[in-house]
Amino acid sequence: MKLFEKHQKFIDEMARKPSGTKAIKSYNDPKPHFKSFAIILKDLDFREKDEYVEIGCGGGVLLNMALKKVKKGCALDHSADMVELSRKNNISFIESGKAEILQGNAEALPWDDNTFTKAASANMFFFVEKPQKVLSEINRVLKPGGKFSMVTMRNSLLGKLTFGFLFKLKIYSNHTMETYLQDAGFSNISVRSQFPLLQICSAVKPG
Ligand SMILES: C[S@@+](CC[C@H](N)C(=O)[O-])C[C@H]1O[C@@H](n2cnc3c(N)ncnc32)[C@H](O)[C@@H]1O
Repeated sequence: MKLFEKHQKFIDEMARKPSGTKAIKSYNDPKPHFKSFAIILKDLDFREKDEYVEIGCGGGVLLNMALKKVKKGCALDHSADMVELSRKNNISFIESGKAEILQGNAEALPWDDNTFTKAASANMFFFVEKPQKVLSEINRVLKPGGKFSMVTMRNSLLGKLTFGFLFKLKIYSNHTMETYLQDAGFSNISVRSQFPLLQICSAVKPG
């Protein structure tokens, strides 16, 4: 296998659609992502009555943090191994009926309109093929007044030269992201960059 193909396979198995022992170990304790989890938790400011949904949940570690505070939590990932790991990491919440973790594509969310009060996505939006479709799906499943918080990679030279190039990530300027969120039906939009690599987005479904 050529070096480029080998590299792509590695990226796919470790991040785009994680699978296998190494990926499972990594997403069971995703320390490099804890900063983005903390940003989302602060922004969403969970209340006991909240019904939360997470898109691209990986090993379900952020979901687990949320489930300790909310009434109900659902999550979706397109990787079978991540869904299994996420279920394992949240088994008590699933057994008590408080959590649901499904395998699927962010472009077609398996939940009804107006279901959740809070939604999040951490470190996954740069893999999405149809960003506008995914954002309008998130808007659709949120209740009026529901809040969406997302951390992805900012549009910087450093980001493009490192992960952007290696991982073939889709990185958007803050202005483009604001436009996408607006087109998806959100208001109260805030998109900002945080050094060195983060783009932090927050928006509300009008209600
Ligand atoms: C880099 S991992 C991040 C996982 C977790 N959010 C975290 O921060 O640790 C990206 C995750 O998004 C998932 N993902 C990527 N594209 C997706 C899509 N179109 N639909 C559903 N899940 C997707 C991958 O399977 C993977 O678990």
